[in-house]
Order: sequence, then C-alpha cells, then structure tokens
Amino acid sequence: MAIIAVAGQKGGIGKSTIAGNLAAEFAAMGRTVSVLDADPQHSLTAWADQGEGLLSECVEKVSGHSTDDLRDKVRRAEKNSDIVLIDTPPGMPEMAYQAALVADLVLLPCGPSPLDLFALKEALGLALKARAQRRSKKPRIRFVPSKVLMNTNLGRNLSTSLENMGKKVLPPIGQRVVVAEAVMTGLTVAEYAPSSVSHHEFQQLAKAIDKILARG
Ligand SMILES: Nc1ncnc2c1ncn2[C@@H]1O[C@H](COP(=O)(O)OP(=O)(O)O)[C@@H](O)[C@H]1O
Ligand SMILES: [Mg+2]
Repeated sequence: MAIIAVAGQKGGIGKSTIAGNLAAEFAAMGRTVSVLDADPQHSLTAWADQGEGLLSECVEKVSGHSTDDLRDKVRRAEKNSDIVLIDTPPGMPEMAYQAALVADLVLLPCGPSPLDLFALKEALGLALKARAQRRSKKPRIRFVPSKVLMNTNLGRNLSTSLENMGKKVLPPIGQRVVVAEAVMTGLTVAEYAPSSVSHHEFQQLAKAIDKILARG
C-alpha cells in the first residue's frame, strides 16, 4: 500500500492530469487504485463524470476545504487499495501540507515557464516542512516536468533546471493534444489513446514511481 500526493501551489500545471492518468497506469499494472479529489473545484471528479471509464470507478471527492475529511478518506481508502493518489488544490497550502503528512511520495509537477519554477519552490518548502514534522525520510519528494514542449529549448532545459533545485526528477510528460481530448471523453490517455506517445510517457512515469515505492 502506498500513498502518492500530487501537489503544487500553482494552478494549471498538470496536477489533476497526472493524478488521473497515473491511476490508469497503476490499474494496468494490476493494482487497486483510489483517487481522492481534494481540490474544492473538483476538476478530477468533473473529468471522471464525463464518461464511464476507470476514473468513474475510483475517484472520490474530499468535501470542501476539510483537511479532516481528507485524513478520514485516506484512512478508509488505504484499507482497500494498493495505491491511493491524492490530487491537491493550488493555493491551499493547508490541504497540500495535510496530504504531505500522510503521503509516502509527493510529486511536484512543474511546467516549462520560469514562473512555474518560482511556484515550485514554495511547494517544495511545504513538502520539506511535512518531512521535518514527521522526522522521517517520508514523504519522498520528486519533481515531474509537466506540459513540456518537447522540441523547444525551454522544454529541454526544464529537467536540468529542476535537477539544480536539489530533488530527483522523474520522466517528463509532454504537452500533447490527446491529453486534453481524453479529458473531454471522461477517459484517461491509457483508455483513450493506448498507442499514443502520451500513454507511453505516463507509463514510464508510473514505472519510475513504482521503483521508488518498492524501496519502501
Ligand atoms: N500534458 C498535457 N498536455 C496537454 N494538455 C495538458 C497536459 N497536462 C495538462 N493539460 C491541460 O492543462 C489544463 C490544466 O491541467 P490540470 O491537470 O487541470 O492542472 P492543475 O491540476 O495543476 O490545475 C487542463 O486543461 C489540462 O487538460
Ligand atoms: Mg487540479
């Protein structure tokens, strides 16, 4: 059993997209997955509600701004899931902090803009604060290059800029049309476009995460 939180203080950087698509990749690896939608805007729930795919079966809303409800739902979800993914909201540090307090791994997605990097520092600070509070090596913290324009300098340089911030960097997720199209059909990329490059990217990301989790 493992808990993965996807966090970041900036909106629009791909947190919910990564949480939803990772759910599909872990399910494809034979794991039972729960996804907790802890963003009061509930965009992951809205995505799930567009269709009848995997997300419609594993996404659960956390009510409003309640960190208590998050704690309760995590406790319940971890009893019957191999993987619990928590999608956290931007601009709500207390929810992201609560998620980091219970998570084995915190993923911090970062887009290619220099402004994204500034916001990332804040999110990293929060995750490190949770780790200090727990007096533990957990949560482990990893950066995920997100919405990367693969054939641009900005895209190529992102992984290097992230490495320079002192945390390990996971395989990147490119900015691709199928990702947005999948959302409109209520499906994950694994379901909507299984032979796409995008699916391959999410698969690589899930494999890298699985290796980290296997270390305990
Ligand atoms: N890799 C990607 N390629 C294309 N569009 C993406 C990608 N990741 C996210 N998006 C789009 O960008 C917008 C914001 O993504 P979202 O996951 O909701 O960000 P956050 O949860 O960080 O606010 C959404 O419209 C989503 O469909
Ligand atoms: Mg979101």
